[in-house]
Amino acid sequence: MGAIRFALPKQGRPISIAGYRTAARRVLPDLVWAYVENGADDSVTLAANRSAFARWSLRQRVLRSSAGRKTAARFGDTELAIPVMIAPTGINGLVHWRGELATACGAAAAGSRIVLSTAASYSVEEVAAASPVGHWLQVYPWRDRELMDWLLERGRRSDCPTLVVTVDTPVFGNREPERLQGMSIPPVLTPRHVLDAALHPRWAYKVLRHQRVFTGNLVGMSGVRAGALAAKVRRERMMAGELDWDDFARVRAQWQGLCYVKGILDADDAERAVSLGADGIIVSNHGGRQLDGAPATLDALPGIADRLAHRATVLIDGGIRRGTDVVKALCLGADGCLIGRPALYGLAVGGESGVEHVLSILREEIDRTLALMGCSDIADLGRDWLIPG
Ligand code: FNR
Repeated sequence: MGAIRFALPKQGRPISIAGYRTAARRVLPDLVWAYVENGADDSVTLAANRSAFARWSLRQRVLRSSAGRKTAARFGDTELAIPVMIAPTGINGLVHWRGELATACGAAAAGSRIVLSTAASYSVEEVAAASPVGHWLQVYPWRDRELMDWLLERGRRSDCPTLVVTVDTPVFGNREPERLQGMSIPPVLTPRHVLDAALHPRWAYKVLRHQRVFTGNLVGMSGVRAGALAAKVRRERMMAGELDWDDFARVRAQWQGLCYVKGILDADDAERAVSLGADGIIVSNHGGRQLDGAPATLDALPGIADRLAHRATVLIDGGIRRGTDVVKALCLGADGCLIGRPALYGLAVGGESGVEHVLSILREEIDRTLALMGCSDIADLGRDWLIPG
């Protein structure tokens, strides 16, 4: 499918990620908002992800001529205009009818890339056709060898340069607002949802008409096999807490390209991932959606970066909402960041151009932050640029 671009009217367009969040809340029905926004249990980790950034101040140096500031980053063969990618999030087709096609095109237009979720509404082939720039692919280390071969082969054929293996989901986190809304994949619609959809006619008309509320990456397989797989996942045989490092090693051995492990919060685990062939790790607590009470990712980052000592790329996600957050993460040892919900806010509000705009807001904020700090290159950022407290 060719990339279709939708221009957002400039007037009234949000100017910050917080603004996009407010606008997205208006656009999305309760079921979808519950899916996008909530954390696990009491959302302690979700809140901690945000508050951790406030515990660091940025050093301000003056009159240092920081013209021609550099914000570009490179992870393997992936060259980015800013050190920010879009984290994998499932069923984007529930947020906007063009789902991951719009997320991917918006990211590419801003000089970034997405990590396409296994649970995406659109398949890896559809995304590669809409935006053939080499987006990354995320999988879970499921034991089903046939399924894994099938997914990885499709990633390979779609020119995904990097595989991301998410390891923090041995079982599903307890996201109560989502459960109370009856959220499942695909969502089961009740009369309450129908009423809610009627209150959001623009969303309902497009999303329900296009019916991309399934996991396109999995239903892309033949009907019988897809049904069997869905039943298997539902019976929790594949999310039953039985995965171990051998499962990661098996997936790593099946993939010839670069491979990152996502969902690391502990330096010993980071070390283990790298010893088993990971080229990079993503410090992540799944946006506070899995283990509530797990540390904020920014708090976990320095210990992990120190332990890996540049032997692997270190990315981080969780709570990044400002350019200053990105800069602080880079100072604490990250090579780059990912954003989950902010991209979904942009997607909900403006489709492709909303995603592009969210990333361009971050780019502008990173650039302005560097100028105000008196630093001309993100490569020069380090702990000496931070003041605790
Ligand atoms: C996620 N996340 C996620 N992670 C993953 O590896 N595979 C997935 O399919 C999903 N799905 C998903 C859906 C939704 C709605 C959200 C909000 C998150 C986690 C995601 O990749 C990332 O770790 C967090 O979203 C980062 O936190 P922020 O930026 O949302 O605060």
